[in-house]
Amino acid sequence: MNYQQQTPKYISHNGFLIPQGFSIETFKSALEYQAEATDIFVATYPKCGTTWTQNILWLLQNKGQPFPTNKNIQKEIPFLEVVGKDFVSALTNPRFIKIHLPFSLSPYHPEAKYIYVARNPFDCVVSFYYHTKGFVEIYDFAEGAFDDYFECFITGEIDFGDYFDNLLSWYERKDDQNILFLVYEEMKAAPRQEIIKIANFLGDEYIERVKDPEIFNKVLYHSSFESMSKNQQRWSSKRADNMTPFVRKGRVGDWKNHFSKGQIKRLRDKFITRTKGTEIQKIWSDIIPV
Ligand code: PPS
Repeated sequence: MNYQQQTPKYISHNGFLIPQGFSIETFKSALEYQAEATDIFVATYPKCGTTWTQNILWLLQNKGQPFPTNKNIQKEIPFLEVVGKDFVSALTNPRFIKIHLPFSLSPYHPEAKYIYVARNPFDCVVSFYYHTKGFVEIYDFAEGAFDDYFECFITGEIDFGDYFDNLLSWYERKDDQNILFLVYEEMKAAPRQEIIKIANFLGDEYIERVKDPEIFNKVLYHSSFESMSKNQQRWSSKRADNMTPFVRKGRVGDWKNHFSKGQIKRLRDKFITRTKGTEIQKIWSDIIPV
């Protein structure tokens, strides 16, 4: 019998794939959200450091108080594509909003702020694989193999679109004054420095908070991988109990445990082709295999 590739279940809005468990109506309403000058967006391709950054923002906003165990960050800093425009419009200012959209589909206001986080595609696909397997009700991919998932990622036939389309769309804007372009691997290597970057980007009130060592140390501590690994219901609901936790390994290089030689070559080739002529190759020069 021929091997049948398993694929996660997606639905499409004008060719842009979203998970089957999402609502097309809500997604369409998300695309119509009118950004406001005071909005602060965390914009990412999935699995590139969204929740970590959401938590850092929450901690900065709440002077280092840990994110409460009885709340869900996806509601407090809502995921626009899941909650839709009315939910977000009803929030008080400043609104903190999560999106996984490429720049062209993102709600834009010239004074709104956008924090984009990029992660190397090798670790991104591994993290996205476990994510997709674990949200059984949303993707129906519980038994899916990494090899099957890799084919979706490399062809871009995946929710929120091709990794490189998303990355390049935001990278082109990285020098805009209202966009802060961060890198997951740099956040891991130098969390203090990157938290200060975020505070500087957000403005005076936040700069004052990171100048207070007590607040700063709390932000640092409660946004660490170790701390975020605890009480994981804060970051996501609906995750099947027998699957990997949402805050899973938080490592650079876990891809080495998953890729075949052929897969390494194919993703490296795509990376080189798609990022040609940009400085992106330099960001991960010590990570992307040659
Ligand atoms: S999502 O579903 O798109 O919002 O996922 P996202 O939050 O972007 O990415 C999840 C990955 O980020 C890791 N993570 C962290 N790494 C380091 N430090 C901290 N504090 C942290 N918090 C979350 C998380 O473990 C996922 O990566 P993997 O490689 O799967 O462990």
